[in-house]
Amino acid sequence: MGPHAASKPLTLSEQADELEEKMMNELNDKIATKSALFAMADGSLDYVGGAELQARNPGKYFLMGADPRLPKMPDKPTLIDFFKHRFVSMNHLLQSATLALKAGHEEKVVLACLLHDVGVAGFIRCDHGYWGAQLIEPYVAEEVSWAVRVHQALRFFPDESVGYKYPDMYRKYFGPDYQPEPYIVEEYKRARSHKYYMTARLICVNDIYSFDPDAKVNLDDFVDIIGRNFKQPKEGLGFDNTPSSHMWRTLMWPTRFL
Ligand SMILES: [Fe+2]
Ligand SMILES: [Fe+2]
Repeated sequence: MGPHAASKPLTLSEQADELEEKMMNELNDKIATKSALFAMADGSLDYVGGAELQARNPGKYFLMGADPRLPKMPDKPTLIDFFKHRFVSMNHLLQSATLALKAGHEEKVVLACLLHDVGVAGFIRCDHGYWGAQLIEPYVAEEVSWAVRVHQALRFFPDESVGYKYPDMYRKYFGPDYQPEPYIVEEYKRARSHKYYMTARLICVNDIYSFDPDAKVNLDDFVDIIGRNFKQPKEGLGFDNTPSSHMWRTLMWPTRFL
């Protein structure tokens, strides 16, 4: 029970004020900023410039580092650190990878399953296969990142040879008449004849949509496979000057002003 449980309920604007004050305290009086994309997720193109935002928060500076509301990241973060402190839906990835492991697939396939939805878990849903692939590309075999990229398209197309049908879940989520966009259809056609097609297809086969609260999954089961197949930079992800270092940094510091 909160401090107001016994008194009159707060009005919406009082609640908003209280929330803002609480956030500000947790931020050690720094101003955290929401990027344009965060506002777009609320259907808004509202933009408040730096000067005005600071004027609304007199005497305060903008946050230019770690957001104290989020779990603390180490100085040289590893993939495991991102799993533990940033990815919001680890269970789906672990369940998928566990299934691939039990099916006896090779380590590259297991890693591809473990990482297939890092786009969703760490960033954004739209085009999650592409974002996820780009994020991991400098650190994994081409087979793994390629498979992560195209699994997004393959999910919509059956492959009887491995017993993969169009997911019932998609019918439930998107309606019976949903048709993938032409760029997804084109991606699928290109992928069919690609040398790593089956790796991407196996992501779909091992992709689990039903959340099983009793499933016994543990990130520890995959530490060795990650160690052998993910080139962890000694400087830490984000500080190793690869084409995706900035993406890891943004994930680490999503509310920095710049
Ligand atoms: Fe996916
Ligand atoms: Fe998935």
